[in-house]
Amino acid sequence: MELEEAINKRQSIRFYQKKRIGNKKIEELVKAAIRAPNANGLENWFFVIYNSNEAREKIQELLIHSHIDYYREIGISNEKMDKLEKKFKEGMYSAPCYVAVFIDKNSKVLKDKKYEELEMHWAIESAAMAIENLMLKAVELGLGTCYIGVANFTYFENEIKKMAGLGKNYQLVGLISIGYPKKERKPRKRRKRLEEITKFV
Ligand SMILES: Cc1cc2nc3c(=O)[nH]c(=O)nc-3n(C[C@H](O)[C@H](O)[C@H](O)COP(=O)(O)O)c2cc1C
Repeated sequence: MELEEAINKRQSIRFYQKKRIGNKKIEELVKAAIRAPNANGLENWFFVIYNSNEAREKIQELLIHSHIDYYREIGISNEKMDKLEKKFKEGMYSAPCYVAVFIDKNSKVLKDKKYEELEMHWAIESAAMAIENLMLKAVELGLGTCYIGVANFTYFENEIKKMAGLGKNYQLVGLISIGYPKKERKPRKRRKRLEEITKFV
């Protein structure tokens, strides 16, 4: 598959087939992810694959809970909330696999405290680039993904860290649901025109 096709086909997939993903495919995804550029060449990322039934069930529970919290915070109507709950019952976000990308806060090169925040940004940016690589590779393998930002809610992050036995020094960048898409892909159009978001100087 050409890169252009993968880029244009990628969209957030929230409904998946029940079909499991083999470990070899997951390894291919991680291999693509770690080809990403990374600050200071530190390769400061750690991938946790939540693949067991027990782990997936726990994550699905957290996903429903945190999305409800999210939509409550942004103040959606009761009617919309009912529709959302119906979608959860239909299996929204229920994926055969979840991959969480963490960074190690202790892994840095600049010793002075004044660079702490900067290095955190670099580590997060590096992990985010790895995530996009993983997502594009997933398209090539016929898989769909969704970035689950609500996994950064404290209770969610703490729980998935506990499940993986990770210490305080680890910080979650993103949780990605992965699986074979249930429906045909229909990539979402961009709202903003190129002229609105570019400036040639
Ligand atoms: C940092 C980040 C956090 C996101 N968090 C969520 C999330 O919690 N739940 C969700 O359904 N989608 C989430 N998304 C997916 C976006 O909603 C989606 O990328 C956006 O609407 C554009 O649609 P597309 O990915 O299909 O092109 C997140 C995406 C990013 C980059």
